[in-house]
Amino acid sequence: MSVRGDRLRRHRERDRITGRIEPLLTGVEGWLYIEEAVELYETVRSHPAADPVLVVEIGSWKGRSTIALAQAVRDRGHPLGRVVAIDPHTGSREHHERFGAVDTFDEFLRNIDRAGLTDLVEPMRTTSLDASGQLVGSSVDVLFIDGSHEYEDVRYR
Ligand SMILES: C[S@@+](CC[C@H](N)C(=O)[O-])C[C@H]1O[C@@H](n2cnc3c(N)ncnc32)[C@H](O)[C@@H]1O
Repeated sequence: MSVRGDRLRRHRERDRITGRIEPLLTGVEGWLYIEEAVELYETVRSHPAADPVLVVEIGSWKGRSTIALAQAVRDRGHPLGRVVAIDPHTGSREHHERFGAVDTFDEFLRNIDRAGLTDLVEPMRTTSLDASGQLVGSSVDVLFIDGSHEYEDVRYR
């Protein structure tokens, strides 16, 4: 295939994925751009790991990225694929400064349910540090990190 033909094919494929993901994200609040959601989707959908794939997400907020990741797991076709979504759902420092106290858990669950993805998403309502202890021995295929930026939360221990 020519370079131009290849570019056109990729462009059409991106449009197709955008058309698939965008309706699922409508009304789900957050900062993740549709282009980023498509990137997450493509990463998981085309990942060479054997199925069932295990995706771990750190930082879910109200579920925009979780939905993109989980839809890709769904489209891989294996019923045991899953997304472990780690978040204490109490926000980060920048959220507290902007919104005060937050609790995003119920809205997160509602958004995942509305997207029809509840069976694929395993929420862990805790910090990444706590969750890491519980995931020891799991073979993670894709890790998406979008959680706290505080040094104490991300430093290597
Ligand atoms: C930028 S938001 C995530 C946005 C989300 N990925 C999306 O697509 O909308 C960051 C999230 O990290 C979570 N968070 C803060 N500290 C955390 C920690 N120690 N471990 C895991 N998540 C944390 C916050 O509760 C917040 O929901």
